[in-house]
Amino acid sequence: MDITDLQRNPLAEFETWFDLAVKSGEKHPDAMTLATCTKGAVPSARVVLYKGLSKGAFRIFTNLESRKARELISNPRAALAFHWKQLDRQVRIEGRILSMPRKEAEKYFHSRPRTSQLGAWASKQSTVIPNREALIGRLRHYEMLFEGREVELPKHWGGFLLVPERIEFWIDGEFRLHDRFEYTRKVPARGKPGAWKRVRLSP
Ligand SMILES: Cc1cc2nc3c(=O)[nH]c(=O)nc-3n(C[C@H](O)[C@H](O)[C@H](O)COP(=O)(O)O)c2cc1C
Repeated sequence: MDITDLQRNPLAEFETWFDLAVKSGEKHPDAMTLATCTKGAVPSARVVLYKGLSKGAFRIFTNLESRKARELISNPRAALAFHWKQLDRQVRIEGRILSMPRKEAEKYFHSRPRTSQLGAWASKQSTVIPNREALIGRLRHYEMLFEGREVELPKHWGGFLLVPERIEFWIDGEFRLHDRFEYTRKVPARGKPGAWKRVRLSP
């Protein structure tokens, strides 16, 4: 494969790859590793779900008091990695983190099944709990609290947007001679991002 086989806009290329992954029968094509870092440069990683693009930024939803959220707030840079086994492909994304507008988070929250909405109330994500019963007890409490009415968006739940500065497309190749195509651009804290530049990297 040659670099000119890829689209000039890496976000459009990402969407093409994501569609291929969905069609490939991959069980969780939307599962991606999210790496965050504390202010003191201690990294951590976990899998989260990709929830589409919003004006060119990758959407993530989570508990805003979780470990990942605390790290994203205190050090607003992150990295994502998708691995699609069926395709033998990987996409790596790095960039700046922005908080998602509450309206957008609310719209997504209400599109989720009611049980997931209640689960968001019940779970104080990343905190210590004595046992599973304690969690189920909290779920029952919120089931009763919201009985017969819409489940409100909890203050402690919402989304983040990752504005990409670097996107790398990786395709498995023969003799470990994989293809790697890297797109980079500058994203200033304020104002418009620069234009994308692309290069081929050695595997
Ligand atoms: C396939 C998969 C999808 C997941 N999706 C999410 C998600 O979208 N949001 C989320 O907060 N946690 C998700 N999780 C759970 C996280 O991996 C993690 O356990 C949790 O968010 C707590 O992480 P933290 O303590 O680093 O904040 C997912 C886990 C798996 C295995």
